[in-house]
Amino acid sequence: MKFRRTLLALSLSVAMIAMSGTVGAEDGNADRGKVLGYTCHGCHGVPDYKNAYPNYSVPKLGAQHGAYLQAALKEYRDQNRSHPTMFAQASSLSDQDRADIAAYFSTATPIPSGQVQGTPPAVTQTCVACHGNDGVSKVADYPSLAGQYPDYIEQALHAYKSGKRKNPIMAGFAAGLSDADIQAIGAFFGQQKGLCSTDQVLKHGKCQ
Ligand code: HEC
Ligand code: HEC
Repeated sequence: MKFRRTLLALSLSVAMIAMSGTVGAEDGNADRGKVLGYTCHGCHGVPDYKNAYPNYSVPKLGAQHGAYLQAALKEYRDQNRSHPTMFAQASSLSDQDRADIAAYFSTATPIPSGQVQGTPPAVTQTCVACHGNDGVSKVADYPSLAGQYPDYIEQALHAYKSGKRKNPIMAGFAAGLSDADIQAIGAFFGQQKGLCSTDQVLKHGKCQ
């Protein structure tokens, strides 16, 4: 009897771990992440700072999901996302470094407001199941898009579509999008409330 109860407890805890999802994501120490992530503000903490050639905004990381931040950093390191600067930034980070940095930037994860600004383009119907009606994703593996720079969202979608970013889920969803769809998607999610540039996390510990 005792044995069976132990087994039950064990399988329950395995199920809980499985449910908490976020494959490969670790818990981080935000204080250590603050120190490690200091250099990141040079680009991610300057509102409207642009990547050169091609020209598009450096993405907002403030309040992004930690599990997603860790996954994205691994993708730059492994060149599943090709970006020379981010490769250089990510290639020297350990699992623990990534977890700590992610813990720091994600401190201010926004609560889904459910308040949608503007009219969602019809093409976003398939997207909101993962990215949230208002662009605030409820699943840590799926990035929030709310308040992200529209030109960065567009750049990312073109990169999934062309195969420059290798991600099996998003390759499928981006494949059918036209240039006009991509522009409308960027504008819609960009005007929602959510992410912020990292200078706000540095100054206030949250998005303001
Ligand atoms: C020289 C400027 C620069 C610096 C410094 C920099 N980044 Fe980036 N980062 C970028 C650009 C540009 C992109 C967008 C790349 C792309 O198109 O995929 C990016 C993308 C990212 C992404 C993906 C965001 C998303 O929404 O998918 C993460 C995560 C990230 N950077 C983390 C960091 C961290 C952590 C540091 C510091 C250790 C850092 N970056 C330093 C320019 C920079
Ligand atoms: C089944 C869940 C799912 C659906 C549906 C989905 N996505 Fe995604 N999306 C993801 C995941 C997972 C990623 C992260 C991929 C990676 O690691 O590069 C992502 C990444 C993105 C990014 C890049 C964000 C960033 O910060 O770099 C954009 C933009 C995006 N999705 C837009 C869309 C749009 C537009 C649609 C609908 C046409 C859509 N997604 C449908 C799961 C989904």
